[in-house]
Amino acid sequence: MDIPKHVAVIMDGNGRWAKERNLTRLAGHKEGINTVKKVIEAAMKSKIPYLTLYAFSSENWNRPKDEVNGLMALLNHFLEKELKLLLENKVQLKTIGRVHELPKETYQRIEAAKEKTAHFDQLTLTIALNYSSQNEIVDAVKNIVNEAKEDAINIEELDYPKLASYLDTKDLPDPDLIIRTSGEYRLSNFLLLQSAYAEIYTIPTYWPDFNQSHFNKALDQYAQRERRFGKIS
Ligand code: FPP
Repeated sequence: MDIPKHVAVIMDGNGRWAKERNLTRLAGHKEGINTVKKVIEAAMKSKIPYLTLYAFSSENWNRPKDEVNGLMALLNHFLEKELKLLLENKVQLKTIGRVHELPKETYQRIEAAKEKTAHFDQLTLTIALNYSSQNEIVDAVKNIVNEAKEDAINIEELDYPKLASYLDTKDLPDPDLIIRTSGEYRLSNFLLLQSAYAEIYTIPTYWPDFNQSHFNKALDQYAQRERRFGKIS
């Protein structure tokens, strides 16, 4: 079976899952953490080398303060409780997004976990936090322009691989498969350039109900797709 090298996931539907059960939105996110653990395990079982999870977009700051604070607290809790799981399974933690703008405690925990797992290569788990593809491109362009001003880069030689080396994802291969839960058909500012040739798989299931067998079904579907990269069969 053709296994994707990099699976990226838009974890959607926590709020609707909670609403259907008369629970708070935060209860939905809390349940979503259990799915995060299941999907990490499923990725390891299938020997997928790169897994990226969209946990907090730059637009998510516009949600009610309680929800934003609750999400940060959940993230802190995850980093504290699951660091052991990452270490035991040799999982390297990475992030994409403007993580330095997160609350100080969260930022420090993330950086510490990244440092402790930097030498692992069983699975690279990247969490997109305060991430926006558009902001990522703006940051890359600013850096390129600044380097050009100092003659550190020759603009005539700029091509896509060079541009990509300025993106947050510079150390990751482009995603082969993007999974989105909850029945929405959007990329929502996630890996817009990197997903140029990604296969997209959507499923109506809300994120808290998503499980290993759903994940494996997405992998089966992926294996059946014909990827042409602009060429013909
Ligand atoms: C989208 O559902 C989900 C989020 C904005 C947050 C996802 C976060 C987690 C699953 C927990 C933290 C993650 C990690 C990696 C520790 P939504 O709230 O937009 O759902 P809705 O569209 O039904 O309202």
